[in-house]
Amino acid sequence: MAWRTLAGQRVLLTGASSGIGRELAIQLVAQGTKVFALARRRSRLEELAQEINQPELFAFRECDVTQPADREQSLQTCIECFGGVDILINNAGSGAIGPFAAADEARLRKLMEVNFFAPVEFIRLTLPVLRQGNKPLIVNVSSVLGHRAVPQKSEYCASKFAVHGFSDALRAELAAEKIDVMLVSPSTTETEFFDKVTGDRQKPRGRFGAKSPAYVARATIRGMQAGRHEIILSTGGRLLVWLDRLCPPLADRLVAWWG
Ligand SMILES: NC(=O)c1ccc[n+]([C@@H]2O[C@H](COP(=O)([O-])OP(=O)(O)OC[C@H]3O[C@@H](n4cnc5c(N)ncnc54)[C@H](OP(=O)(O)O)[C@@H]3O)[C@@H](O)[C@H]2O)c1
Repeated sequence: MAWRTLAGQRVLLTGASSGIGRELAIQLVAQGTKVFALARRRSRLEELAQEINQPELFAFRECDVTQPADREQSLQTCIECFGGVDILINNAGSGAIGPFAAADEARLRKLMEVNFFAPVEFIRLTLPVLRQGNKPLIVNVSSVLGHRAVPQKSEYCASKFAVHGFSDALRAELAAEKIDVMLVSPSTTETEFFDKVTGDRQKPRGRFGAKSPAYVARATIRGMQAGRHEIILSTGGRLLVWLDRLCPPLADRLVAWWG
C-alpha cells in the first residue's frame, strides 16, 4: 500500500453523527479532506456542519445505511457534491449485549444488517465509483472483538468477525486494481455506543483504559496515510489478539473470567 496524502481526497463516511465517525469527520476536514457524512440523525449532522463551518469541505445527508435506496441516493448526492469518491469509510455500527439464548432472531438479523450487510453492500455500490477515484481506499471499522470473541456479545462478535473476513478477502481481490482495504479494530472507546446497545446488560463490566474517539480517529487517519492493512488500537487489544494466536485455551479462560 502506498503513502496517501488526504488533502483533496473525497471521503464518503457513515456513522458521522457521534463518536468515532464524528471525530473522523472533524479531523479529516482539518487535513483538507472533503467529507460527505451520513447518519440517521439529521440534527446531529447539522450541528456538526455548523461546528466545522467549511461547506466546501463538508457536506452531509440523512441516511439509514440498512436501506438500499438510502445508500444509492447518498452516493449520488456525494458524487454531485464532490464529483466522485476516493475513500469509503464504513463506520456506522451498533451493539448488543447479553446471553445468546436470551435473545431472538430479530436482534441478530438487525445487528448483521447494520454491522455487516450494510457496509458490504455500500462497498458493492461504491466500487465502480472508487475505480475512477484517486488512490482508492475502503476503510472498515470493525473491533478487537472481530479478532477475538468474548461472551455476552456473541452476535456483535460474529458481525465484526464477518467484516474482518470479508475485508481480508476483498483486499486480496482488489489488490490488482490498486484499491486498498484497511481494517480498523478499536477496543473500548468512550462514545454513545454503550448507551444504545441492546440487550439485558447495559454496560460492559469494565471500561478501564477506554480510548477517546479523538484518539481512535487520529490513529485511523495515521493508518490511512501510512497505507496500513489493519490497525488494532490498544495495547490490551493487541495483547489479547496475540495471546489468542499463541495460546487459545488461555485466551478462552481469560475472556470467560472477564466475561
Ligand atoms: N465504542 C466502542 O467501544 C467501540 C469499540 C470497537 C468498535 N466500535 C465500532 O466503532 C464504530 C463507531 O461506533 P461508536 O463507538 O462511534 O458509536 P456511536 O457513537 O454510537 O456511533 C455510531 C454511529 O453509527 C450510526 N448508525 C448506527 N446505525 C445506523 C444506521 N442504521 N444507519 C446509519 N447510521 C447508523 C449512528 O448514527 P445515527 O444513530 O444518527 O444513525 C452513529 O453516528 C461502530 O462500527 C462500532 O461497532 C466501537
